[in-house]
Formats: sequence, C-alpha cells, structure tokens
Amino acid sequence: MQVVASTEAIESVSCDTLLIGATRVAGRVVLAPGSEPLDAALDGYLSQYLQEVSYKAGHGELVTFPSFGRIAAKSITVAGLGEDPDEDSVRGVAGSAAGSLGERSVVASTLQLATGAASSAGAAAEGFLLGSYRFTAFKSDPHPSKIQRLILLGGASEDTLSRGVARAEATMLARDLTNEPAGSLTPEALAERVRGIADATGLQATVLDAEALASQGFGGIVGVGQGSARPPCLILLRYTPTEPTTKITLIGKGITFDSGGLSIKPAASMEEMKTDMAGAGAVIGALSACTRLSVRAEVTGVIAAAENMVSSTSFRPGDVIRHYGGKTTEVTNTDAEGRLVLADALAYSSEQNPSAMVDVATLTGAIKVALGSKAVGLFSNDDTLASEIESAASTSGERVWRLPLYEDYLKELDSDVADHKNSGGRWGGSIIAAMFLTQFVGPGIPWAHLDIAGAARSASAYDEVSKGGTGVSTRTLISFLERQDQRSAGESRE
Ligand code: BES
Ligand code: MN
Ligand code: ZN
Repeated sequence: MQVVASTEAIESVSCDTLLIGATRVAGRVVLAPGSEPLDAALDGYLSQYLQEVSYKAGHGELVTFPSFGRIAAKSITVAGLGEDPDEDSVRGVAGSAAGSLGERSVVASTLQLATGAASSAGAAAEGFLLGSYRFTAFKSDPHPSKIQRLILLGGASEDTLSRGVARAEATMLARDLTNEPAGSLTPEALAERVRGIADATGLQATVLDAEALASQGFGGIVGVGQGSARPPCLILLRYTPTEPTTKITLIGKGITFDSGGLSIKPAASMEEMKTDMAGAGAVIGALSACTRLSVRAEVTGVIAAAENMVSSTSFRPGDVIRHYGGKTTEVTNTDAEGRLVLADALAYSSEQNPSAMVDVATLTGAIKVALGSKAVGLFSNDDTLASEIESAASTSGERVWRLPLYEDYLKELDSDVADHKNSGGRWGGSIIAAMFLTQFVGPGIPWAHLDIAGAARSASAYDEVSKGGTGVSTRTLISFLERQDQRSAGESRE
C-alpha cells in the first residue's frame, strides 16, 4: 500500500471512499476539521444522514454512504473518534477503519486532522497500514486487503509519514514471523529470515550454530533445544551507524515452538505456542527499521532460538544446566524454558558492556493473569531506563506496566544442587521469572525486561491490532531507539 500526503481539496479528490473523522463535543457530533466543505457540497445531507441513523461518533463507529456524484469521491465513510481525540484514537480508528474498508482500492482521509497535531498523520498512516494487515501466506485463496493507496489530506511532512510507515512495516514483519507455523519457522529458518532482512536493510547478521553454542558453553539454549530434530542457534543482528552515540542490546526469546518439553503443556491451545518467538519478532522488527529511521545508537539484536520438544534426547526435570558464563540451573520444570535461553543471552550480551539491555519475551502465563492481553509487563533494575521505556510505549499506543523486582522472591528458586532452580511456587510467577533473569545481568548494566506473554497474540482484531500475532513491543522498541538518538542530540520531544 502506498501512503501519500496531499493538499488537494476534499471535494475534488478522487477515491473510492473519503474517510472523515467525527468527534463528540458536548453530546453533539462534530466533523473533523477539513471536512466542512463536504456538507455544503452535499447540500447538508451529510449531517442530516448522521442524525437520522443516530450516529454518536463513538470510538471506531463507522457509517459509509454513497456520494451520488456530488463530489469526486465515490463514497464517504465517517469514523467516530469519541470525545477529545488524541493520536492514539487516530491510530486506533484508522486501524479499525482499514480493517472494514478492505474491498476499496483508494482511500482519502482527513481523520488525522482531528487532533490538531501534525504528527497525527504518521499515526494515521501507521494505524491504517496495521489495520489492513492480513496473514495470507498459507491460504490457497488469499483475500489480502485491496487497498492500494491512502491519501492523507491536509498535507503532512515526508518525515512524519515515512516514520509511521516504517513503524507499521516493522510491526507487520514481527506479525508475519509470529504467525508463521513452527513447522515452517524452525530456529534455522528464523536465522535464514534474519540473514535476508539484514541484507535488505543494511545490517550485519551472524549465526552461532548448535555446535558453536555447545563449544562456547551456551548450556541453556543447547539444553532447551536438545529434544528437537531442529537444532537451536543464537542469531546476532547488528546495526552500526556512523559515530554511534550509545550501545543498546535488544534480546529476544526465540522459542519457535514451546510444547513444554517433558513437563508437557495441555493439548488445549498448544498451537498458540508458535507465538513463543514473538519477543524475537519484536527485536527483529525494530532492528529492521533502524537504517530507515537513522537511529544514532549502535543496536545489537540477540535472538536465542530453540524449539522446546519432547523426545528421548530432551532435557529432563532434574537435569542441571551450565549457562554461558558458568552459572548453573537445576531444571525443575522444562516448560520454564524461556528464562533458560535468556540467561545465556543476557550473560553473553553483558560481556559487551552495553549502555542498556532490553529483553523481550513471552515469558510467563502469569503476566496474562496479572495484566490481561492488552498490556506488557515491564521490569527493570534502572528507573531511568524504565521511564524511557514507559514513555516510548505511551507514544506508541502500547501499554506497559512496571512490576517490582523483589529480591526475597528469589528464595523460591533456591536449589539443593545448583545455583538456582528454574521454577518456583505458583504465585508471583512473572516476578520470580524476572528475578531469575537478574542473575545473568552484568553488574552495573541498566536492564529492562518486557514480558509480552499476554499481548503477543490477540483473540480478536481491535483498533490497529490484528487477530493472531500482534507484533507487540516492536513500536515501543522503535520509539525507545529513536529517543536514544534525540537524547544524545540534546533535544527532547516533550
Ligand atoms: N511460553 C510460555 C509462557 C506463555 C504462556 C506464553 C501463555 C504465551 C501464553 C513459557 O515458556 C511458560 O511455559 N511459562 C510457564 C512457567 C512455569 C512453568 C514456571 C508458565 O507461565 O506457566
Ligand atoms: Mn514454556
Ligand atoms: Zn515458552
């Protein structure tokens, strides 16, 4: 889909439908700025029609009607933005409108003018692209969205638009990877995809195969992957700008399938465990956008990729793993595998002494219990880093909620035979998992952990979020990286 800005008059822009925003002010429906000439061109029928269908301009409320040749657009679609629309509402409503308008080919929009902020054009482009996303790779009769062109009326800067498009495309890449079945997306296939992305976007990819992992002591990744016929690997993806300002490492959990291993998961919805590489997807998505967005930090992606399977070669409950760097873990539950592969990746990344490390992982079912499926759990050993991520998330329209790192909860993971065991009691599972991870973070390194187990998949489409893999945290990471840039340039967006 092509996204363009135009200053053409609303009555004369040719398109299949004109998407205009409507807000509610003191109980009355008010059309978004820029749409005023329409009602006049239609002899007042527009407002009369809205009144007759009792249109309330509720969030995402859509009505479409023909223009009968009174204007160049073939039809008009009014999209409700509720009261006091902000950039989040524009992004979300653009997303749900794009989902409904999939049979049109050209859409012109004034939706983004409702906030009065120029940056809303980027949010509209982002939302619209994300809302038209469909995963069709395995359909013999695919029904992709037919939208070819989005015209943003009222003009917009090239930079705003291309940032919105880049964010959406990075998120869609993460969604594609997440939605791909595990039978096709093996750890090695994931590495192959990353090589292709690196070539296409000017990044550098390096892959440590299973042999290299074994000889270098990556016992966590090797242990989790040893039950699968598809060997594990560690995928490194590097973005190096000229004169980098800081060094950021992004770590992704890349379990291509999580059967639970010998501590096997129940059959019901086990198919959803192809989502267990969504953290890797977000990291890969964010890195794929770095060149286009001229990020000024050096960014390294570290993907711990393995398939957690059941076989005679699987690791067992009771086994002791020696992680990269030498710490040991007694495996009391093979289904707590994410922390085992992340432990290696964190210890390995710490050696490079980055300015900050952020890991993204579908780590615990407990985070879904705590925060539901539309929010991400944030843990951090550094208040500055935590607030940078909170503010990156809030401009991205992605929810993160910070949870505590309670030192004494680590007692749950005391082991008789190793440094720690990998699973403890039932309660506070997300905190305990995060506390386990802290053990592998090098001293003094600011670190944050995003537990995306709740938000990585959605049971239904809403706003710009599609059903299935959501690509969550890709945009938060992008905003975070963009700001590393701004902070170092001595500027602030606030
Ligand atoms: N991949 C799962 C977590 C998960 C659950 C992701 C639901 C997406 C949706 C993770 O590897 C896991 O199995 N965690 C266990 C940990 C437990 C055994 C300590 C869990 O949350 O039950
Ligand atoms: Mn598991
Ligand atoms: Zn898992």
